[in-house]
Amino acid sequence: YEREATAALAAAATPEDLEAARIEFLGKKQGRLRDLQKSLGSVPKEDKPAVGKAFNEVKTRVQSALDARQAELESVDGGPAADALDVTLPGRAPHAVGAVHPLTRTIAEFKTILGRLGFAAVEGPEVEDERHNFNALNIPDDHPARDPLENFYLSAASVGKGEGPLLLRSQTSTVQIRVMEQNPPPVRVISIGRVYRPDTIDATHHCQFHQMEGLMVGEGVTMAHLKTVLTLFCRAYLGEGTKVRFRPSFFPFTEPSVEADALWHGAGTGDGGAEGRWLELGGAGMIDPNVLQAVGYDPEKVSGFAFGFGMERFCMMRHGISDIRLLTENDVRFLKQFG
Ligand code: PHE
Repeated sequence: YEREATAALAAAATPEDLEAARIEFLGKKQGRLRDLQKSLGSVPKEDKPAVGKAFNEVKTRVQSALDARQAELESVDGGPAADALDVTLPGRAPHAVGAVHPLTRTIAEFKTILGRLGFAAVEGPEVEDERHNFNALNIPDDHPARDPLENFYLSAASVGKGEGPLLLRSQTSTVQIRVMEQNPPPVRVISIGRVYRPDTIDATHHCQFHQMEGLMVGEGVTMAHLKTVLTLFCRAYLGEGTKVRFRPSFFPFTEPSVEADALWHGAGTGDGGAEGRWLELGGAGMIDPNVLQAVGYDPEKVSGFAFGFGMERFCMMRHGISDIRLLTENDVRFLKQFG
């Protein structure tokens, strides 16, 4: 038995042959080993221990011959077994955990650029009182910007707190007041955050969006500083050679007030062609003396500028995003593109 078994196992040329030989010689339910085991019953009693021992040794040797041949066959065809561990293979990159949201990325870039110009990033609350959203910003009681239809007032939240009505801030200019109330001049800060207005949502409007507020106050700060900071900022974010222009405008908290535009040559300008395209940045101006007074600054000693830009438009222009709603819908097919 043993000689035939080892010969058959050694002669097996494929895994199929080997399996056939295994069944013939080592099969548990039928097969020649089983027959041999059955025949042990007829061995005289006194010989049983020796014969049993010999039987077990044969069984072990045939089993090892099978294992050895199996290993040989695996190493010949197809190299190592499919489930063998090859420690020399390069590791598999971990599954991507996500992408940085384009707005988050824009916020980080804005902070870096203005940080280089000496502006510290600060934050303010999204739920505000009327003093910070309107009064201290020189917005009179009868000003249309206070219209309940233009704002999200939180009537329930204000009840019994003796603070007057609260609202979701409609502009980040609130942070100008908070910073100046708490810090003597000079100050140089930006504040990026959400603002809320009851607009009808479409491809270019949303009821919540981000603004970047900039504020610089000190002795001898002029409009030339404002234009220089905005120009340097736009060149860093939109590209060298970007020009900034001012158009006269009005805000209660700045005098004079401007709307700032950037002439942009970058990709995605679409209709702009070689001349580039004027991109609206937002409002800006020299801080009104009434505002400086409201926070306890001396308008005879210090002056300052402020600007407030919508962030979504910047981000959409820069990345060629055509619908503002994509920025809040969290469609993975959109987000994935920023990996
Ligand atoms: N807060 C103004 C707005 O939301 C923008 C602005 C900020 C204008 C600072 C002037 C100075 O439209």
